[in-house]
Amino acid sequence: MAMKNATFVSSSLLLFFFLLPLASTTKNSQIYIVEFGEHNADENHDIQTTHHSYLLSVKETEEEAQASLLYSYKHTLNGFSAVLTPQEANRLSEMEGVVSVYKSQPQKYYLHTTRSWRFVGLEEPLNPWTLQSNHKNRHLLSKAKYGEDLIVGMIDSESKSFSDVGMGPIPQRWKGICQNGTAFSSSHCNRKIVGARYYLQGYETFYGPLNEEEDYRSARDKDGHGTHTASIVAGRIVPGASALGGFANGSASGGAPLARLAIYKACWPIKGQSKDMGNVCLDIDMLKAIDDAIEDGVDVLSISIGFPKPIFYRDDVIARGALEATKKNIVVVCSAGNSGPLGRTLSNPAPWVITVGASTLDRAFVAPIRLHNGTRIEGRSITPIQKKHNFQELVFAGDAVNSSISKIDSGYCLDGSLEPSKVEGKIVLCMRGKGARLAKGLEVKRAGGVGFILGNNQTFGNDVPSDLHFIPATGVSYENALKLLDYIHSSPNPKALVLPGTTLLNTKPAPSMASFSSRGPNVVDPFILKPDITAPGVDILAAWTDADGPTRMSFQDNRVVKYNIFSGTSMSCPHVAAAAVLLKAIHPTWTSAAIRSALITTAATKDNTGKPLKDETGKTATPFAYGSGHFQPTKASDPGLVYDASYTDYILHTCSLGETQDLKLTYNCPKPSPEPYNLNYPSIQIHRLNDTKKTIKRTVTNVGSPNSVYKFSAKPPKEYTIMASPNVLEFDHVGQKKSFTITVIAKRGQVLTNNAPDDEYYFGWYAWTYKHHVVRSTVAVSFQ
Ligand SMILES: *[C@@H]1O[C@H](CO)[C@@H](O)[C@H](O)[C@H]1NC(C)=O
Ligand SMILES: *[C@@H]1O[C@H](CO)[C@@H](O)[C@H](O)[C@H]1NC(C)=O
Ligand SMILES: *[C@@H]1O[C@H](CO)[C@@H](O)[C@H](O)[C@H]1NC(C)=O
Ligand SMILES: *[C@@H]1O[C@H](CO)[C@@H](O)[C@H](O)[C@H]1NC(C)=O
Ligand SMILES: *[C@@H]1O[C@H](CO)[C@@H](O)[C@H](O)[C@H]1NC(C)=O
Ligand SMILES: *[C@@H]1O[C@H](CO)[C@@H](O)[C@H](O)[C@H]1NC(C)=O
Repeated sequence: MAMKNATFVSSSLLLFFFLLPLASTTKNSQIYIVEFGEHNADENHDIQTTHHSYLLSVKETEEEAQASLLYSYKHTLNGFSAVLTPQEANRLSEMEGVVSVYKSQPQKYYLHTTRSWRFVGLEEPLNPWTLQSNHKNRHLLSKAKYGEDLIVGMIDSESKSFSDVGMGPIPQRWKGICQNGTAFSSSHCNRKIVGARYYLQGYETFYGPLNEEEDYRSARDKDGHGTHTASIVAGRIVPGASALGGFANGSASGGAPLARLAIYKACWPIKGQSKDMGNVCLDIDMLKAIDDAIEDGVDVLSISIGFPKPIFYRDDVIARGALEATKKNIVVVCSAGNSGPLGRTLSNPAPWVITVGASTLDRAFVAPIRLHNGTRIEGRSITPIQKKHNFQELVFAGDAVNSSISKIDSGYCLDGSLEPSKVEGKIVLCMRGKGARLAKGLEVKRAGGVGFILGNNQTFGNDVPSDLHFIPATGVSYENALKLLDYIHSSPNPKALVLPGTTLLNTKPAPSMASFSSRGPNVVDPFILKPDITAPGVDILAAWTDADGPTRMSFQDNRVVKYNIFSGTSMSCPHVAAAAVLLKAIHPTWTSAAIRSALITTAATKDNTGKPLKDETGKTATPFAYGSGHFQPTKASDPGLVYDASYTDYILHTCSLGETQDLKLTYNCPKPSPEPYNLNYPSIQIHRLNDTKKTIKRTVTNVGSPNSVYKFSAKPPKEYTIMASPNVLEFDHVGQKKSFTITVIAKRGQVLTNNAPDDEYYFGWYAWTYKHHVVRSTVAVSFQ
């Protein structure tokens, strides 16, 4: 999952692979996935019996076969996972009907609201039953009945804080269950939480039994991530909510406050590792979670989990599961990851999911510093700070280190580095750039300091985090850190006061892209622009578990909070999932592709100052950070035209990507495969336009006014022109489809003489416009 943990300096990794010996099985055994050909998942045959019979043919006894079967899959693939020796796997692979046998790969993830809804034009609803539905902003919510008829699957953990007071009966089509377990029995489900399951088979086969002090053997949330993300999607309205210290006060609500939640918990703490290291999700557990969600009948799946490095679709259980989910028109929304701008590590790049980046709200938590010379320095913090009147001595950590610390490590307040006699009773300035942020505060506390200022290094610039520390503390920009250093070194008696923080609203510019949000280009599928969209993911207030403290550092933190502030694409993903719920409620017949298209083509590329979206550091951001822009649910509910696509279109697209991406082993790919550019996607990415031009096909469906005439316009990427044929689209009924081509032409001679660096992309857009409808598609082109 993709929660950006404050304790990481660069919590950039999401998932990575481990190969460890199996915990509880014989030597040489491994978890394998055995796959059969296509079947009709809706037919009611007993697949488990079939799978068991295959296993029985390679195992010695009935018991052994029984014990080795981990899961049978029905939707995500036709097959099963089991513990096998290489010999057994080999024998199975030669059996009739078996298409493929391969080793499972355990995957590790790192954990990747109130105001956010108002910020995107959805008023925080106070009480859905007393609303005047004519209120403009509330229109979308009331039209969507707050999502009451829809069910959101969360691949995450359950929370007990979801009341079902006043909610109608659970939709009859729902087939899910509430699985009994520790601290959670089926009676914990209600009309709000309609399903809860957990998946431990893969985890326990791999790591041995779950340590029940670290997590519940049930769907119940222990680390807060599940509660937080679920309440962003569908939390009930709670007036007067705030984080510790009163930050972010207001009424808290999910985006679709009456939607139902179904929880599929597939990620668990890693044995012997600190909880801040994140949880591990095994591929076979994840695959079963998605399989069950499809079978149970969820409408939208929110998955704040991903990989730290690009992997091909065939190895990516989220991509595989999500593809099968589109067969049932389930909208799958995924986090882009928290790896930041470097390294091309964007997660979840498949065209059949919505990939969400993270950006800021127009809200800041301001905790300034007053210097003894009278100057005030801007700071950011969500640490509760008592109001004090007396100044304290201010010292730079680099001047207060234990002499055994090397020079390059001084200044960062690393564990054990401070010399208590130089720190006691003082406020310490520690630099950011090495070591965990919360740990620095703990080190100052250990050495007897009374306050702490986190100074950004040059790389972070103005991107100041708001953290919850264990002693009074605030964070400052690089520029202000230099100012503080100057003050410390130029004053005979430097003193400072950290002032209590307040919540500042309507800050500008907003939104801006979070520095941690993973960036494109999409290297797995270079014909699809990713991420698709951005949504609030910085300092989001949402519900929290009482099973862990707000910093998730259980050993140091026994505070209990109802609400907590967290950042990550884990938080932006459920925002878009909620928007998908509302759109699906209003347009029940739309496909998952139509919903994605509506969100993408109506997204905003300007901030609240009317300027192009920026990065948190102040530079203009590109579509590789925000995709097509910031989501605007109200506009998305009336997009005019949509770009639709079907399951078969996606399969054909994977055919064109070649064998490594080939997801349906049994699908007969046409020869030659279709051009990968021609998947009917609402944005365009042309990788290597090394010809003079490229012509791309698209088809739009009219979902707006019956009689409408859309005109073409474009802002071509630098060095290119864009043309459409035809350049006027006339419709006379809703549901009508019109096809057109987009030709991207390199300016004369440009291609041959170009020596742009590898993979340098140029950005632009084209749009179809009719009255208030502007159906905009982002275009990204690279030469090489
Ligand atoms: C579920 O748990 C409850 C309470 O712990 C118990 O009474 C019930 O028998 C359990 N049900 C099943 C099916 O295990
Ligand atoms: C938050 O609390 C402050 C101080 O009590 C108050 O002035 C402000 O209106 C509150 N903000 C919201 C959004 O309720
Ligand atoms: C300095 O650090 C060393 C090594 O960590 C430690 O043994 C020593 O006690 C420290 N000295 C002081 C005064 O803290
Ligand atoms: C700042 O910190 C980042 C993150 O640890 C590090 O990669 C970078 O090198 C540092 N930059 C400077 C100028 O110290
Ligand atoms: C206080 O010190 C800071 C840092 O040296 C300096 O920038 C500022 O101008 C000083 N303020 C006054 C009023 O002297
Ligand atoms: C042109 O692009 C194609 C892929 O689109 C690539 O296979 C080919 O090598 C490129 N040619 C040159 C001259 O770069």
